[in-house]
Amino acid sequence: MTNNENGLLTLVESAFETTDTKSFFLHHPTGTPDFKPGQFINIGVTIDGTTYYRAYSISSLPSDKLIQLTIKRVPGGTVSNWMIDHLNIGEQLRLHGIAGTFNIIDSPYRENIVLISAGCGITPVMSMARHLLSLSDERIKSIQFIHCARDEDNIIYFKELCKLSNEYNKFKLAFYCSRSTKKSDSLIHKDRLNMDSLMIHMKDCFNDSSIYLCGPDEFMDMVKTELEASSFEMNHFHMESFAISCEIPETYNASGHEGKNHKVSVLDFAFEKEVPDGTILLDILQENSIPVVAACRAGICSSCKCKVETGKIELTVDAIANGTLTLEEIEEGYTLACSSRIIDDITVTLK
Ligand code: FES
Repeated sequence: MTNNENGLLTLVESAFETTDTKSFFLHHPTGTPDFKPGQFINIGVTIDGTTYYRAYSISSLPSDKLIQLTIKRVPGGTVSNWMIDHLNIGEQLRLHGIAGTFNIIDSPYRENIVLISAGCGITPVMSMARHLLSLSDERIKSIQFIHCARDEDNIIYFKELCKLSNEYNKFKLAFYCSRSTKKSDSLIHKDRLNMDSLMIHMKDCFNDSSIYLCGPDEFMDMVKTELEASSFEMNHFHMESFAISCEIPETYNASGHEGKNHKVSVLDFAFEKEVPDGTILLDILQENSIPVVAACRAGICSSCKCKVETGKIELTVDAIANGTLTLEEIEEGYTLACSSRIIDDITVTLK
């Protein structure tokens, strides 16, 4: 981590993008940290004396003076909702690094680029689109930007995207709105995006496209399966769950678990507690004020990595595929607290 990947970020400006989505423009005292378009930042926010850690995708460019985060209100979203309602100009957030393998620099693209997103999954691909258009790269023949939203009023960055599509011939825009919209607009398809419609967008460039997708897991799995079946070169398909762009609410509810209890011991904090089978490790740590950084709560950022010294847990995500743990680390006992179901008596050390 370089020096300016931590420190305090000051809120300089904020603006609503839709009724429940707000952009925050943040200043770093030593300049915008270097990042790759598509990556996310980890921030710490103190609310009523408790510090929460969250990851949010960056939608601005590394060359911009301010970092733009666009955050959506979510039911139970402690940090997102607090930021939308209470973070005022001049107030500060703590930066805890930048990360993310879903980015346009580490995943080289072919001459046609297809950026697909749903809801707040638009934020990392917006950064990619802004970056690609800023390059004036003659090698790029087309950039297709396909975004799914509930309706027209919920399309984030709508005006800016329309402006970009008017400015750049190679920037092709399409919106899919699952609920009917008020206006008739040639850019808006009053339908859900499905594989047939995606194939229509890609009919002239299927074999020389690179696809970057950020959306709900089920939708991404469907697209991935269909592309594999269509013999798409999968090293040009990149995806990230939009869990990194939308806060995952805390889920602790001990009374909801049934069956036997297990003992959890955290060696560094002399902590011991009996918890119901199936409890998520992160929930029990946070419930008992054990300080653990957990930015995405979705098995994507690896900020909650810790080590199970004895006993077994069950990982709820494919950490190897997500690039958050290696096979060797898993064999050594490392795990992600946010994605570990407790199924045994365990002793844990924090990293
Ligand atoms: S909080 Fe991000 S991987 Fe656990």
